[in-house]
Amino acid sequence: MAKRPAALPFEVQARVGQPLGMAPRAFLRDYWQKRPLLIRGAFPGYVSPIEPEDLAGLACEDGVLARLIQHDRARDGWTVRSGPFPEDLFPALGDRDWTLLVQDMDKWDPDIAALLPAFDFLPRWRVDDVMVSFAATGGSVGAHVDQYDVFLLQAMGRRRWQIDASAAMGRGRPPLDFRDDAEIKLLREFTPSHDWVLEPGDMLYLPPEVPHHGVAEDPCLTFSLGMRAPSVAELMGDYIDTLAAEAEESLRYADADLEPAKDPHEIDATAMARVVEALNAVRMADADALGDWFGRFITVYRAAAGPGLGEGQPLAPDELARALGGGLVLQRHPWTRVAWRRAKKGARLYVAGLALCMPVTDAKQLALAARLDAETWDTLSDAGRDCVAGLLAEGHYRLEAPDEDTP
Ligand code: SIN
Ligand code: CO
Repeated sequence: MAKRPAALPFEVQARVGQPLGMAPRAFLRDYWQKRPLLIRGAFPGYVSPIEPEDLAGLACEDGVLARLIQHDRARDGWTVRSGPFPEDLFPALGDRDWTLLVQDMDKWDPDIAALLPAFDFLPRWRVDDVMVSFAATGGSVGAHVDQYDVFLLQAMGRRRWQIDASAAMGRGRPPLDFRDDAEIKLLREFTPSHDWVLEPGDMLYLPPEVPHHGVAEDPCLTFSLGMRAPSVAELMGDYIDTLAAEAEESLRYADADLEPAKDPHEIDATAMARVVEALNAVRMADADALGDWFGRFITVYRAAAGPGLGEGQPLAPDELARALGGGLVLQRHPWTRVAWRRAKKGARLYVAGLALCMPVTDAKQLALAARLDAETWDTLSDAGRDCVAGLLAEGHYRLEAPDEDTP
C-alpha cells in the first residue's frame, strides 16, 4: 500500500534480491521522478571494473566525450576543459580539487555495460549512458541540478553528497538560478537538507531538478546512470520534420468552395478552418506511423556524431547461417540503440533510427540479445534473419569469434 509521502524515508538499506531496498514497483510508485533516495549497499562489496588510469587513458582518445573540471578554492573559480586531453596533463594536475568526467562508458567498456541489466525495471530506451567520473580529493563539479533522473553509484573511494530535498519534503521548490561567473551551471544558492558520505556500493537516486553537490572525500570513482528524457520541444521538432518529409506534395491548402472575398486582405474563419484541415491531413493519426516515428527517434544516439560503425560485412542469410554454425557469433555494436514495439501486424524492431518489420518473438529476441549465436539464429523467422543480415552489412553487428572481449 502507498505510504504518505512524509512517512517515506530518504535512506534505505538494500537487501538480498532487493538492490533498491524495496520492490521496483514500490520504488517507481514512491520515488521515481518524485523523491531522492540513498540506497546503502545497493551493490554490496562493489569493486570498480576500471581504474582511474583507465579513465584518464580513454579521455586522451579521439571521439571520447570527456571533461575536466578544476576548482580553485582560493578564488572559488571553476575551469572546464573538454577532451581529448594530452597524456602529460594528468600528472600535472596535482592531487586535489579536480574531476575528470567521461560519458558513454557503457559503450566503451563491457564491464560497465554489465551494470545495465540491474536497471531492467526501467525501459532500456530511457537510459542514456553511464558517465564515469574520477575525482581527486576535494574534487567536485559544484552544486547544480540535472534535468534527468540519475543513479549515482559510488564505485571507488568515498564521496560526500549533499542534496536539497526540500521540494520532496513539501517545503517548496528551491531557487534554481545559476551563477553567471562560471562556465558550468552552478547554483547561486544551495542549502542542503541531507548530507551523506557514500562508500563503494552505495547508490544515490536523484529525480530531475534536485540540487546536489558531491565532493570527493578521497580519490574516488562515481558511476552515473543517466536517463534520456527528450524535451517536448525536441519531440515536436523531430515529429514535425518527419511529418513534413513524409507529407505528399499534392496535399495542400485547398479552397474549391471559395466565395467572393468581402475584404481581400482578411484571413477569415473559413480560411482558418481550411488551414486546420490541411494540417489534419498529415496528423499521423495512424498508431503505427506514430510508433515508428518515436521508435526511430529514441533509438538514435543523442549526439549528432557518435563513433562510426566501421565497415559492414555484407553476407547473405545462408552464408551468415554457415558462419554461425561454424561457431562465430554476431556481436551488436555497443553504440547501436535498440527497442521494439508491437505493431498492428507483428512487430517493429527499431535499430539506431531504422524501423524493421518482423514477428514479435524475433523483435523481442533481437532487442534483448547483444550477442547472437547459432542457437538464437535458428529461432528467428526469415524476416528476422534478413534484417540481421542487413544490419550486419550496415555495421550494427560484427561477426566474430565468441571469446572476443566485447559486451
Ligand atoms: C560527478 O560524478 O562528479 C557528478 C555527477 C553529477 O552530479 O551528476
Ligand atoms: Co549532477
